[in-house]
Amino acid sequence: MSQAAHKQKKTKSKSLVKSDIQPQNAKEHTSSFIMSWSCKHEQKKRKIRIQHTGETSVKYVGLQLWNASFLLCDHLLSNPSIVENKVILELGCGLGFNAIILAKCLSIKHIFATDNVASVLTQCKKNIELNKLNDKKNNKISARWLDWSRGNELLSKLTEKQFCVGNDHHWTKKDNQIVSLNDQKIDIIIGSEVIYDHKTSDILFDFICDIFRKYPDIIILLSNEKRLIFNEMTLVDEFYGYEQFIKNIQTCGNITLLDPTKSKSQTVKKIELVKIDWTNIPQTSQYERHKYLELIMLKLV
Ligand SMILES: C[S@@+](CC[C@H](N)C(=O)[O-])C[C@H]1O[C@@H](n2cnc3c(N)ncnc32)[C@H](O)[C@@H]1O
Repeated sequence: MSQAAHKQKKTKSKSLVKSDIQPQNAKEHTSSFIMSWSCKHEQKKRKIRIQHTGETSVKYVGLQLWNASFLLCDHLLSNPSIVENKVILELGCGLGFNAIILAKCLSIKHIFATDNVASVLTQCKKNIELNKLNDKKNNKISARWLDWSRGNELLSKLTEKQFCVGNDHHWTKKDNQIVSLNDQKIDIIIGSEVIYDHKTSDILFDFICDIFRKYPDIIILLSNEKRLIFNEMTLVDEFYGYEQFIKNIQTCGNITLLDPTKSKSQTVKKIELVKIDWTNIPQTSQYERHKYLELIMLKLV
């Protein structure tokens, strides 16, 4: 991680719960990251530039850089087949770091980097341009508005106006073709640092259940940095939001699937949570790895 990014690191955990600095007051930085990894015995290197903010209020956390996204990218760069030729949906994309790396370093078909904060998506688009990935004809990355709390309506109606904030981040007819909405053709879902308080944790859990109902075969890859915080209600230290998310998956993760060809026919499947051991995954850029980083895969079994 660059010096600028290191400086951010000191403040970022705090900012999730305390700071109330709005983006217009916060300082912007541009950091460069050299991603270095090996692919089929060949050493590869790419430079990524990301414009990001220092401290922010919780609403604008997406404008900061987060360690968990580095870990997710390491995993995908080491296992490119997970995303090769795939249509990827990224949840809570923030600055677009993951999406830019996938579009620049790997042979993906397309990635939709989504978020529900318009200024975050605007910054994501700036970063896409900064990395020269905004080629209109052959672009592999789109920044789009998507709010997990609209989960029920998801995907069948993405291109309708109610899913947009302003004109800049709306889903288009072309997106519709890429995703082949009728065939429900999103291959994989990713997200980093998207579980960080009780509210987002619950909304995300409900949304993930909706996704599995629509896409029973999908794989969801999430990375997170667990934060130990004293809970004033229960008087115990807990991993804020994250423990609740894991508990929800383990205790309420039963998904009822209806068979569209047979009325009244249904099967119940369970969300399986697999913790991925990342200790042997090569580190492709400089950032701090520590025991509070987690990489998980969710799928229906
Ligand atoms: C801590 S940031 C992580 C950003 C990025 N994934 C990263 O790792 O750098 C969490 C992101 O989730 C987004 N988010 C939070 N709640 C959301 C919701 N209900 N729908 C969509 N995005 C949401 C935030 O706007 C923010 O960009």
